[in-house]
Amino acid sequence: MKRRIIILTDPGQDEAVAILTILGSPDDFEVLGIVATAGNIELEFTEKNARKILELAGRTDIPVHAGCSRPMHRPLVTAQHVHGPTGLDGPDLPEPTMPLQKQHGVDYLVETLMAAASGTITICSLSPLTNLGMALVKEPRIAGRIGEIVMMAGAYFEGGNITPTAEFNVYVDPEAADVVLRSGIRITMLPLDVTHQMRSTKERLQRWRSLGNRCAVAAAEMMAFSEPFDLKKYGWDGAPLHGPCVPAYMLKPALFRGRDINVTIETGSELTMGMTVADYWRITDRPRNVFYVRDGDPEGYYDLLAERLARLP
Ligand code: RIB
Repeated sequence: MKRRIIILTDPGQDEAVAILTILGSPDDFEVLGIVATAGNIELEFTEKNARKILELAGRTDIPVHAGCSRPMHRPLVTAQHVHGPTGLDGPDLPEPTMPLQKQHGVDYLVETLMAAASGTITICSLSPLTNLGMALVKEPRIAGRIGEIVMMAGAYFEGGNITPTAEFNVYVDPEAADVVLRSGIRITMLPLDVTHQMRSTKERLQRWRSLGNRCAVAAAEMMAFSEPFDLKKYGWDGAPLHGPCVPAYMLKPALFRGRDINVTIETGSELTMGMTVADYWRITDRPRNVFYVRDGDPEGYYDLLAERLARLP
């Protein structure tokens, strides 16, 4: 049965590849809509980038809503140093012509979830959690309508990437992440601990180029643009490919391993702001609110991505 999903995203090259992987899996996902988030770059770019990606894949039937222009409490922190001045630098994609929806992304989430039967919608979060956090504050009853949240967020064993202790998606809006993690909704978290095992080596990117279709070639060009920052920082043979871990987990969970644990968000100390405090060894009696994915199979992951990208225009 197809998963009915709403995608929260701040594209960003890796988010773009995640969206393309989803669109290459039409038998597995029914995409109800996309809510663009301020994160990797300002909202005016992320909503435009979401539309560019849909037009690249020929899926202008999917509505794009713009969410909040900044986090719930803190000023916006962006990552142009990784993603470039447009947030989706790499391929030369045309300005989008499909319309942006007029309805605010938070209102879209509330309306769509309240109209749905309980537990029938999966939230696929590739970004800071601002809009879901705000929707939960506005209408707490949506918690019962969401079947699962599958999110790229957090880090524990790997340490942080935007600070020594925090992963970017959580750091940008720790208060929103806190609201979501306390919501009681079933959550699967794909943190840096697993996404750092998924490295886009030259061979893996060349495999995408060799597919020859415009979406796979654009995906390779996107990663070739954003990888230098991570290659220099980590000295690895490939940059970590974060976002597509979310659809890959939903498509082939056997590629991943994790456990149910408590994850609590640091929202007090500036030193550790946005840290996902993962009680991986179950030392405390805090509620096990997250299925925390610690490991994955890189070969299977890249085989899956190539297979799904190949199906696109
Ligand atoms: O921490 C990694 C995540 O934050 C990735 O999705 C990257 O694009 C940034 O948004």
